[in-house]
Amino acid sequence: MGQTIFVPKEVDAAETRVAASPDTVKRLAGLGFNVVVEAGAGTLSRITDDEFAKAGAKIGKAGDVAKADVVLKVRRPNEAELKSYKQGAAVLATMDPYGHEAAVAALGKAGVTAFAMEFMPRITRAQVMDVLSSQANLAGYQAVIDGAAEYDRALPMMMTAAGTVPAAKIFIMGVGVAGLQAIATARRLGAVVTATDVRPAVKEQVQSLGAKFLAVEDEEFKAAETAGGYAKEMSKEYQAKQAALTAEHIAKQDIVITTALIPGRPAPKLVSAAMVASMKPGSVIVDLAVERGGNVEGAVPGKVATTANGVKIVGHLNVPGRVAASASLLYAKNLFAFLETMIDKETKSLKINRDDELAKATMLTDGGKVVHPAFAGKEPAAPTAAAKPAKAEAAKKPAAPKAAAEKKPAAKSPAKPKTKTSPKTTGGTA
Ligand code: NAI
Repeated sequence: MGQTIFVPKEVDAAETRVAASPDTVKRLAGLGFNVVVEAGAGTLSRITDDEFAKAGAKIGKAGDVAKADVVLKVRRPNEAELKSYKQGAAVLATMDPYGHEAAVAALGKAGVTAFAMEFMPRITRAQVMDVLSSQANLAGYQAVIDGAAEYDRALPMMMTAAGTVPAAKIFIMGVGVAGLQAIATARRLGAVVTATDVRPAVKEQVQSLGAKFLAVEDEEFKAAETAGGYAKEMSKEYQAKQAALTAEHIAKQDIVITTALIPGRPAPKLVSAAMVASMKPGSVIVDLAVERGGNVEGAVPGKVATTANGVKIVGHLNVPGRVAASASLLYAKNLFAFLETMIDKETKSLKINRDDELAKATMLTDGGKVVHPAFAGKEPAAPTAAAKPAKAEAAKKPAAPKAAAEKKPAAKSPAKPKTKTSPKTTGGTA
């Protein structure tokens, strides 16, 4: 029998997604793999064990991970989970490594070859593997749905015999993948939409979706996009000009959706407490950046906070997980597409080409070590927990190719953060 691919039920209670779908199970089984899916792994994504079994999976239990050559996951495995993993197993997941250096070191100690899917380079060949895009797209959609649910009025203009209901005004701050989908969704619901971003390339995209673009278009703005298409951290002067421009606008909005992120850094603060206070009671703000420190002052991770002046600030965590059935299908496909590039179709087994640019950009740990250039050598001096001493002595494992550790990160992979990006929990809400 061929090699084994294991798909666990996610242990994090907040995680509703699963890293495989009946479609990807079928494809992997078709490639000659023995696919084992943990019982109940798909339940919260509306995929039954029966559907996985029909697609060719064996339904197993958590302990089956010990036999797995490949583990497909949504979230980084924690140290307790890693205790059962086989040395040399490939693990594909969203590893969320920044600010979690101890957890990255634990992956290294466990001897797994861990791939951080969020480091996938943004090149044409890898578009199908881009988990940031597939999940941000759904988050942008869901942000509008969540905003509309908290907003106790209609979004579209309605001209009826009994009078006219005005259209809601929605302002989207940050127009990457999530922001674009938020604009499109808000427009479909009939809102009047405006949007802002610091990258000039966005202006046309906003206008082509039927929204109005609002930004400080100075020299700094014209140079704000990195080669990878991401935003740079803007100067204090720019931020002040941006705040002055948006403050007046925000006061007139019904719903504000913020999605602004800078790779590897805390999210920029775009909406101050004073701006929140300027909004009408019953207005809604949805902060999609809340897990990365938040764009909005007073946003509380995991909560819908209501301010003293009656503005609701929505800070849901794991927003793609709120549309888990859709998010899992796309995420599973992203993982499959990447894994497929590492499968030798003749021998029907995993064969990682460590010189391939996708493997190099995403590989965090290999051969018992942290190999990603952004994290290698940055392991904390005293690891938090003793990670299975028995296996850690497996220094007999072939060493990771030096190249992987020495190469600079792919041009488009996120930069190392200066500060930890833990969510802020400042008050200001009632
Ligand atoms: P992101 O999630 O890193 O950031 C979201 C948005 O926030 C970005 O548009 C960014 O410019 C904006 N932002 C950052 N700081 C801001 C500030 N101070 N004020 C206002 N806005 C601010 O970005 P995402 O969604 O990952 O997209 C980045 C780019 O990558 C986009 O141009 C997107 O179209 C492109 N992309 C390219 C792909 C490919 O070539 N394969 C795939 C997916 C996205």
